[in-house]
Amino acid sequence: MIKLSGIVKEYHIAGDAIPVLRGIDLSVGRGDFLSIMGPSGSGKSSLLYILGCLDRPVRGTYLLDGVDVCHASDEERSRLRANQIGFVFQTFNLIPSLSLFENVELPFLYADGDDDRPVKERVMAVIEQVGLGDRIKHRPSELSGGEMQRTAIARAAVMNPKLILADEPTGNLDSETGRRILELFHEFHAKGTTIIMVTHDRAVASHADTRITLKDGKIVSFSA
Ligand SMILES: Nc1ncnc2c1ncn2[C@@H]1O[C@H](COP(=O)(O)OP(=O)(O)OP(=O)(O)O)[C@@H](O)[C@H]1O
Ligand SMILES: [Mg+2]
Repeated sequence: MIKLSGIVKEYHIAGDAIPVLRGIDLSVGRGDFLSIMGPSGSGKSSLLYILGCLDRPVRGTYLLDGVDVCHASDEERSRLRANQIGFVFQTFNLIPSLSLFENVELPFLYADGDDDRPVKERVMAVIEQVGLGDRIKHRPSELSGGEMQRTAIARAAVMNPKLILADEPTGNLDSETGRRILELFHEFHAKGTTIIMVTHDRAVASHADTRITLKDGKIVSFSA
């Protein structure tokens, strides 16, 4: 499903190119559950942004179901993001002025599809799945950290994407809430969704079928 070859990413700070990914080769099959570990600053989020078509590498190729997405147009990449990829950001990125329900409903505005889909029912079903059916009118500022986390996961899952990318989805949560969130990922995985999850927690990573570790922008370990 995913094939990365020689992915290089650098950021430019005051004219200097700072390498953050230094040649990543990785294959992920359809329906796989992969975890990415590694120290802070090792490039985990940068890699996830490339996988999510939110950023482009400076070198290398990324094939998603055979499509060279690095060289696809912005329009094509937006369409992929809207219809096939769910992204859980490390900082949630919920819209403060919208209610929980409206935040989760948002991806429908960007996706292709006919207008008579049962959107509200689907939005409500995924909100129930993450256990927030009694919070739908709350704004993000009126939610706890774990509730915002679960809202972000519901938003990523609402379109039934074939790929869910999650950046520290259990970060800063108590172990019970973290366990509940992992159960959700197992539920998505059981339906055939491909999941790639960044975590700093070895116990959380052990839930994945395949684990990689990044260090200084390179994959230093791989276990399946
Ligand atoms: N937009 C940016 N501009 C310049 N440098 C950046 C930018 N984003 C990230 N970096 C740098 O790239 C490196 C990798 O960042 P990245 O966010 O991928 O790390 P990470 O592994 O996700 O870390 P963490 O565990 O702290 O989230 C870091 O050194 C960071 O300072
Ligand atoms: Mg990060």
